[in-house]
Amino acid sequence: MNEETLDPKDWQAVAALGHRMVDDMVHYLKTLRDRPAWTHAPQEVKTHFTQPLPLDPQPLEEVYEEFLQYVLPYPVGNIHPRFWGWVIGTGTLSGAFAEMLAAGMNTNTGGLDHHSANHVEHQLIQWFREIFAFPAGSSGVLTSGCSAANLIALAVARNTKAEGDIRLHGLQGVERPMVLYGSAEIHSSLQKAVELLGLGSDCLRTVAVDEAFRIDTAELEEAIAADRERGFHPFCVIGAAGTTNTGAIDDLQALADISERENLWFHVDGAFGAWAVLAPGAKDQLRGLERADSLALDLHKWMYMPYEIGCVLVREERSHRNTFSLTPAYLAHGEGGMGLTGGDLPWFSDYHFQLSRGFRALKAWMSLKEHGLRKYGRLIEQNIDQARYLEKIVQQEPQLELATPVSLNVICFRYVGEDRSRSRQQEHDLDNLNQKLLGRLQEEGIAVPSGTTIAGRTYLHLAITNHRSRLEDLDLFVREVLRIGEELGSAL
Ligand SMILES: Cc1ncc(COP(=O)(O)O)c(C=O)c1O
Repeated sequence: MNEETLDPKDWQAVAALGHRMVDDMVHYLKTLRDRPAWTHAPQEVKTHFTQPLPLDPQPLEEVYEEFLQYVLPYPVGNIHPRFWGWVIGTGTLSGAFAEMLAAGMNTNTGGLDHHSANHVEHQLIQWFREIFAFPAGSSGVLTSGCSAANLIALAVARNTKAEGDIRLHGLQGVERPMVLYGSAEIHSSLQKAVELLGLGSDCLRTVAVDEAFRIDTAELEEAIAADRERGFHPFCVIGAAGTTNTGAIDDLQALADISERENLWFHVDGAFGAWAVLAPGAKDQLRGLERADSLALDLHKWMYMPYEIGCVLVREERSHRNTFSLTPAYLAHGEGGMGLTGGDLPWFSDYHFQLSRGFRALKAWMSLKEHGLRKYGRLIEQNIDQARYLEKIVQQEPQLELATPVSLNVICFRYVGEDRSRSRQQEHDLDNLNQKLLGRLQEEGIAVPSGTTIAGRTYLHLAITNHRSRLEDLDLFVREVLRIGEELGSAL
């Protein structure tokens, strides 16, 4: 019988190619600054990925050459020192190495007993409990990102607070419609979660924000009272610890008080902002976070780890487990263990909708040990200082206008030229100008901010979650904004 395998025939040749891949990636990351912040993938590249099914083999060396030619030169750009768009993290070289090691081990971390990966993830969850001052009995699980973390948290909130057995009867079994609250600035992933959970986006009550884009707690209380009056069942309040648009952090103490008083689940979306607890100059803004019933986090944003990795923490382990644990005969655990010697740790599949999961914990564990938590705190503080530095420049530059004061690492501003009094038409022209300015900055490979709308006007949006950025990058960016802005302004 001619048995086949996917292992290499020539292990030495593959090892040599692997070494080359490592060398190439080291060089690539070392020389990032010499390349544009972004390069538009040409048509030729897009066409390359419309080939027929590869039924027959091609040497790995050749496939790698294709990668070098068609894939590597056209990244999103978030590895670059001048990438600040949306809220996207930078990654690290050692994080990439960890990904390779984890893929080599190819561990399934859904569960199984007496293997190392689960212990690594449990170690991480213990560290996160400590960082965010969650109690000893709380639970947690790594996720693909904060969208998944928010979904898990809201599923636990819904099932725990429902007036009925949601797992058995679904929402059909509840008498009063369930409603939850968050500011108008919370992330879209929360609305998606609410929709996926069958609650319907109507039940997500959007509460107005104050002038600092934080939830208006008086309006929140009024909304809860009005809903109770009308026969709804308020069950959860969502606090934002760092909004995507402006970096605003809700008054988490006030939200925790309201949740306690009203018997609501208190969920915090701390995708990136929660990590500011590590920055001595910013951590006070997050007071009250430790009182959350659940906390959703990302590590691929402000912890600079390679995609994908997020985490959810839940104060009450039992609620978390009761939402996800399901054990058919073929997954029996807890008493037999992998080697019939008894399980050693809870299975992560009892805390997640996923069964099979990769070994995400390795890159986080290695990164935290390699750099130490204090350094992460300094880097986060550095990004906040950079946002403040840019804020000062914008305030001093008459042709630029800030959208809102900087509270964290997010800054939104626009080019306005010299003229201060503007008609509605001129405001409209400025929106177009700033949209074009954004396109030019990206297409010319200068820098990658993103765009957003605040109070109806178009702004450049920067969320600095980049450990490679320097003040000189921001200086260059501003020079180019002014150059292109003046050019576009003179054509108006
Ligand atoms: C505040 C906030 N919450 C949630 C998310 C969703 O996280 P992810 O993209 O990791 O799914 C984001 C993404 O930018 C975010 O900024």
